[in-house]
Amino acid sequence: MEIQMEINGKRVALDADSNMPLLWALRDLVGLKGTKFGCGKGLCGACSVHVDGTLVRSCSYPLKAANGKKITTIEGLSNETEVLHPVQQAWMEVEVPQCGYCQPGFMMAAANFLEENPNPTESEIKEAITNICRCGTHPRIIKAILLASKL
Ligand code: FES
Ligand code: FES
Repeated sequence: MEIQMEINGKRVALDADSNMPLLWALRDLVGLKGTKFGCGKGLCGACSVHVDGTLVRSCSYPLKAANGKKITTIEGLSNETEVLHPVQQAWMEVEVPQCGYCQPGFMMAAANFLEENPNPTESEIKEAITNICRCGTHPRIIKAILLASKL
């Protein structure tokens, strides 16, 4: 089945199994490796992307559901402005990452969350951001999201 999407502002047409997870297509067919595979079961958030502005765990999202939609990955988070997204700026300032593996997913979740709640409290962040970091960077992630909300 031909799947057409706009990924980070570019039109992409793929001839692929429509039941393939979107994550596989992004990484293996389109070559965007910033979105990570973690649990593969929709639990950890490492594979988070935006589909038509909604946060999606792409390991559990079939390619056919993305047909005709706009996808934003970590590579496209700052595309439109050509400057770093506030979440990226805050991440750098707070020096959030350790190994870094989970971080693209966290940043996509944080960016989406701040669109819906631009002035969050710490407890709202803790409740909304359910991604997992095995390196224990959660305290810095919360700090960075609070900072990003003020940039
Ligand atoms: S890899 Fe998708 S939620 Fe963990
Ligand atoms: S920084 Fe290593 S898994 Fe989160």
